[in-house]
Amino acid sequence: MEFSNRLKNLPPQFFATLVKKVGNAVLEGRDVINLGQGNPDQPTPNHIVQALQEAAANPLNHKYSPFRGTGDFKKAAANFYKREYDVDIDPETEVAILFGTKIGLVELPLALMNDNDLMLLPDPGYPDYLSGVSLANVEFNTMPLIKENDFLPDYSSLTEEQKQKAKLMYLNYPNNPTGAIANKEFFEETVRLAKESDIAIVHDFAYGGIGFDGLKPVSFLQADGAKEIGIEMYTLSKTYNMAGWRVGFAVGNAKMIEAINIIQDHLFVSLFPAVQDAATVALNESQQCVRELVELYERRRNALIESCHQIGWNVSAPKGSFFAWLPVPANYTSEEFSDLLLNEADVAVAAGNGFGEYGEGYVRVGLLVDEDRLKEAVMRIGNLNLF
Ligand SMILES: Cc1ncc(COP(=O)(O)O)c(C=O)c1O
Repeated sequence: MEFSNRLKNLPPQFFATLVKKVGNAVLEGRDVINLGQGNPDQPTPNHIVQALQEAAANPLNHKYSPFRGTGDFKKAAANFYKREYDVDIDPETEVAILFGTKIGLVELPLALMNDNDLMLLPDPGYPDYLSGVSLANVEFNTMPLIKENDFLPDYSSLTEEQKQKAKLMYLNYPNNPTGAIANKEFFEETVRLAKESDIAIVHDFAYGGIGFDGLKPVSFLQADGAKEIGIEMYTLSKTYNMAGWRVGFAVGNAKMIEAINIIQDHLFVSLFPAVQDAATVALNESQQCVRELVELYERRRNALIESCHQIGWNVSAPKGSFFAWLPVPANYTSEEFSDLLLNEADVAVAAGNGFGEYGEGYVRVGLLVDEDRLKEAVMRIGNLNLF
């Protein structure tokens, strides 16, 4: 049996190789410190787990969910945006419930674009954006994110042709992989460009809950007029350590939300209602667990960056997300350096080129092991005397 061309054309999963290499090293009995992945290490807060346990016991939740999600969860998403960002959202027309935001990001090009339409994507960027490009058979151009621009795209370098042709743009701040954040002025500039050039904007706010040094990440929807041209995707995976639960939502422009809902009417019945009930509790109740989580990541970030400086590695501290974006020493490619760290120091990091051409020269380190392991990882790297 032959696979479809659509399947054959899907981009290779770059990080599958890393997972395999790390797996092999562990099988050999080596004590690998794995900083390569993006899987939150902390458990889901107890009150959310308890809410799921209770909701799972309710027979009403054993039926099909309403197609487009429960009213309570949609209201909770709208209330969350009002409380956290002072953004008004209509729960009926401006919220779409998602099985995690990965699915929303992949299905949106299918819902909004025709063959060979143009998408604009950040480089480096979350690799799964390319899955949506490939499944929808659209073209994409990249917007380089470089240090000199604080890892924000420089819209003045877009050509007239790109601006005319592009239908959809993805952005992501706090940023995976660079750890950079965006401010309101940048999002206002984005809205101006989107309106002038008729480009729909998707802001992937996966790390919206995680900002450091007292900085609360700005929502794209806080920019004036943002809802006229775009949506934001919010996941509970990171803010509440619920990556395995597969729950998130999109909010904003009613037409884009309707497009997501229509495609989902054909692909899914919505999430297990008990998961939606527990997600409602996560959004509505005390956010103390989020504050504690951010403090934990900030302590880990400080431990990592201080240790790097101690071994003479000239790195900058991320301002949000749970990733640090570290430059590789001269004379190494990202992949050579990450292979060296795995083979000689038993430390796994993600090679930057896996996130795009402009990721070359960097490795991504996750703050997803405790402080002592982070320090130990940097000490092992220090022993290689590369800096
Ligand atoms: C930038 C970014 N966007 C989206 C996602 C998808 O998150 P989920 O599908 O768990 O909501 C991730 C997960 O790692 C991510 O890093």
